[in-house]
Amino acid sequence: MPKKTHIGDVIIDLTEIDSTNNYAMRLINEGMAEHGVVVRADFQTAGKGQLGNKWQAEESKNLLMSVILDTREFQIENQFYLNAAACLSVADTLMHTYNVRDVSIKWPNDIYAGNRKLAGILIENNIRGNSWSNAIIGIGLNVNQTQFSDLNRATSLALEIDKPVKVSLILKQVLKAFNQYYVLLSTNQESVLQAFNKLLLGVDTLISYTKNYELQQGYLLGVDSYGLLEIKQGNKLKKFKHKEIEQVIG
Ligand code: BTN
Repeated sequence: MPKKTHIGDVIIDLTEIDSTNNYAMRLINEGMAEHGVVVRADFQTAGKGQLGNKWQAEESKNLLMSVILDTREFQIENQFYLNAAACLSVADTLMHTYNVRDVSIKWPNDIYAGNRKLAGILIENNIRGNSWSNAIIGIGLNVNQTQFSDLNRATSLALEIDKPVKVSLILKQVLKAFNQYYVLLSTNQESVLQAFNKLLLGVDTLISYTKNYELQQGYLLGVDSYGLLEIKQGNKLKKFKHKEIEQVIG
């Protein structure tokens, strides 16, 4: 996969697909992918979320996209930085271009407005041997959908700012922000992690979380460079992996 293209110079627009992440993976497996190619769809018949969940989104109302990246220059240990860059691109666009209030990142990669989820990110990696060859950054951002099942505690950009937004416009804005963060990943990785921690939901406060169905509390310190969540309980520092705990949202 030659690494020439600026991220988002090539956008594959689809009306309907199973999942933009799957489509991107097929392109990679067929040797048809290039660094920076973006796949976007109006509708997904089998959109994928975290933890094997489905990602459901009404047709043509939301941003459903996947970015293909050549990650050979990155160390596998640094995977979390890419996740942070993707989250920040979405969060920054919402905050600075649309003035959405109370935007935060719920660890590890959900974007919230207040206590409702506005966007989710699903990163799939291709690792061959010891080398991280490519990543697919799947972003689902609720844009103009206004009805959600109560169970999801979801919101959309239109609900937050009281007006509709063109999906094609926000796609470009998120990609612009992502290109900027992508450059920062090779010049100043630590600043990306710092920016992530600044926006982390519940950082520097006492949070509640469940571990093996048991409710616990602790002081949320932030996320380390491996993406582990650091929580202080009494004088003990605990570090958690994704899926080990679930933060309870107010
Ligand atoms: C989550 O569970 O929060 C992650 C959701 C990721 C959804 C996006 S939509 C575009 C891309 N294609 C998929 O099938 N999933 C991601």
